[in-house]
Amino acid sequence: MQLTSCLVWAGALVGSVVFDSETGFTFSEFKVAYSLTANIAFRVAVPAAAQSGQPYDVVYQVVVPNQVGWAGIAFGGSMTYNPLLVGWANGQQTQTSTRWATAHSQPTIYNQATLQKLTTGNRVNGTHWQFTGKCTGCTSWANRSGGKTTLNPKGTNRLALVISNSKPQQPSNPSSNLVMHENPIYWSQSFTEGSNANFDELVRKNGGTVTSGNSTSETPTSETPSSGTPQ
Ligand code: HEM
Ligand SMILES: *[C@@H]1O[C@H](CO)[C@@H](O)[C@H](O)[C@H]1NC(C)=O
Ligand SMILES: *[C@@H]1O[C@H](CO)[C@@H](O)[C@H](O)[C@H]1NC(C)=O
Ligand SMILES: *[C@@H]1O[C@H](CO)[C@@H](O)[C@H](O)[C@H]1NC(C)=O
Repeated sequence: MQLTSCLVWAGALVGSVVFDSETGFTFSEFKVAYSLTANIAFRVAVPAAAQSGQPYDVVYQVVVPNQVGWAGIAFGGSMTYNPLLVGWANGQQTQTSTRWATAHSQPTIYNQATLQKLTTGNRVNGTHWQFTGKCTGCTSWANRSGGKTTLNPKGTNRLALVISNSKPQQPSNPSSNLVMHENPIYWSQSFTEGSNANFDELVRKNGGTVTSGNSTSETPTSETPSSGTPQ
């Protein structure tokens, strides 16, 4: 009996592909159940031209119930040594922040990942908040052993989500201290299924700017050796 109750969390995860008519992106979606009755939808859109071992931009969208204080996605599935994308509702606005942790304590601001909020797909209503933005620097980072970890654009990647029941201490401040989270939830999400051939065009159409070389069909000129220095 007790074993069953422990497994409920992982068993409640559901993955699928969704076309978002508001933005035009095709997203790979995971509905992550953070309680027995509520979930957070995490959606990722990937440039079709992204190549294994090379950094690329992604557009991500989260749909979060208002009772959640803050929600955080760990792009490498761990608290430490990977980009942490944190978000919450600040009144009628969504607020996001990129963080980095080297220990199980208050993460610091991470400037190697930048989020560009798109002009569409962002709202707070009576039940949920929804964020849609482009991340540059979320798919490749300097890992714990000094090498470089790059998420596979043509496969699945193991991610993690945490939620806190309390708002950050200063909701209007993106650098606010966070209040401790509940137990993390892990899953593997297909990035292949979030492939978008017209990624750049969609980014522009939704008010974003395109990072040169990340989502065109250009072939990288050479293999970049692993390096401990993030770009
Ligand atoms: C107030 C700030 C934070 C504190 C004090 C904190 C503290 C902790 C602690 C103590 C653990 C270990 C729990 C256990 O072993 O039972 C943990 C795990 C974890 N935390 Fe945090 N955390 C904070 C912020 C964040 C943020 C912003 C994220 C963003 C996604 C995050 C993601 C995770 C994940 C994925 C784990 C499990 C994997 C791992 O241990 O590396 N944490 N955290
Ligand atoms: C509130 O926003 C969420 C997330 O975008 C959406 O799923 C839901 O349908 C919206 N509710 C109303 C009443 O518009
Ligand atoms: C793509 O974006 C990453 C950041 O995510 C950057 O480091 C890299 O130089 C860009 N690639 C190209 C080919 O411009
Ligand atoms: C760090 O990166 C190196 C080289 O890319 C890789 O071989 C290694 O497995 C990575 N280590 C961790 C902890 O992810």
